[in-house]
Amino acid sequence: MADAPAPRAIFQKARQFFEPEGRYMQAKSAGVYPYFRPIEVAEGTRAVINGKEVIMAGSNNYLGLTNHPAVVEAAQAAIEKYGSGCTGSRFLNGTLDLHLELEARLARFMGKEACVLFSTGYMTNQGVIQSLAGRGDLIFSDKDNHACIVAGTQVSAAETVRFRHNDMAHLRMLLEKHSTERPEAGKLIVTDGVFSMSGTIAQVPELVALAEEFGAGLMLDDAHAVGVVGPGGKGTAAHFGLTDRADLTTGTFSKSFASLGGFVVGSHEVIEYIRHSASAHIFSASMPPANVATVLACLDILEAEPWRLERLNAIADRMREGYRSLGFNVWSSQTPIIPVVIGDQMTSLAFWNDLLKEGVFVNPVVPPAVPRGQSLMRTSYMATHTDEELDEILAIFQRVGVKHGIITEDGKPGHLVSGHGDARGEAVPPSMGR
Ligand SMILES: Cc1ncc(COP(=O)(O)O)c(C=O)c1O
Repeated sequence: MADAPAPRAIFQKARQFFEPEGRYMQAKSAGVYPYFRPIEVAEGTRAVINGKEVIMAGSNNYLGLTNHPAVVEAAQAAIEKYGSGCTGSRFLNGTLDLHLELEARLARFMGKEACVLFSTGYMTNQGVIQSLAGRGDLIFSDKDNHACIVAGTQVSAAETVRFRHNDMAHLRMLLEKHSTERPEAGKLIVTDGVFSMSGTIAQVPELVALAEEFGAGLMLDDAHAVGVVGPGGKGTAAHFGLTDRADLTTGTFSKSFASLGGFVVGSHEVIEYIRHSASAHIFSASMPPANVATVLACLDILEAEPWRLERLNAIADRMREGYRSLGFNVWSSQTPIIPVVIGDQMTSLAFWNDLLKEGVFVNPVVPPAVPRGQSLMRTSYMATHTDEELDEILAIFQRVGVKHGIITEDGKPGHLVSGHGDARGEAVPPSMGR
């Protein structure tokens, strides 16, 4: 008889994942596991989950364009004309006239010389960092940057130095130290323009000044800023009137632009270099035609209907104020991303399930995406939410918040929840430390 095959050590992690004391099995057995829930119908501010209609307050569809008739029609027309996919990389057989049109349009929109598309926002950040920062270079990266920036620093041959979240004094100290030790190294400062969990805006004026003082390139990831922040939705550099002084801005089409894909804008020279050297661009198939046409249609609507941006920001102000007056801690959100801090992880999952039962879908965020004891409900809004929907969301949060002791009925923070509920007193997001 043949010997039993040797156990595969490589799969040990997967076996451990299913151990009863692990977080996955605990959430499953408590009946509060919240992830990968299939959405059966998605109609902008409404969704059907498990046969029940709920208000969607957990998407990144900021301008409410995913179901807009002109957007859907543009996507359908692009499929009719070009087919369903490009079946190749931009470098070879995957460049359509439509890709070039979108690149030119985005460069103009963002006020920069040139643009290059990638097939997702994730690949954009990863690809830009990998192509620009090579052996001997230094990357200065905010500790709370998105996972795809972290991935970019990991695939890059450069050395990465992480500065404390949004801490400009710490960044200066690190720039001084490393510039003295390695004066010849090329330097890149990279940060989320809007932080995806806290909804706070990066300190672009200080970042620009530091980049100029130390001769570093500055890269802003505006995934949650384009179509949301700044005049006309042109992002965080434009918000501060600093478009000319921020070297590179990246963005995604999976949020305001109701599609899938990503882009980077900057000077002609740097963008052409990235186009010819980022492996995520060269060795991966290009954005399908319908995705590109969707973004072009969204840009038309964004420019023709400024009310969407105004409404979105008015909604964000109203909801932040609404949560605060109920007694919730929303950290220092400045955008339509509004975190509602719950504290303990298992309480957060139960809280999330109660919200869903009552009729609102949000995103539960637990460690390691946030520090221990600071689990939260990440809520986010669309220009198309009605006042009635917003009032209902707040009413549901109040009921569930009182039930779990996170707030009191008269609008105060409640008693501490089990575990590490101490985070509720904090107005400023601590570093996620990812
Ligand atoms: C800050 C940030 N950057 C980049 C991305 C990646 O974008 P995409 O979904 O297009 O890959 C995301 C998406 O979650 C994000 O939040």
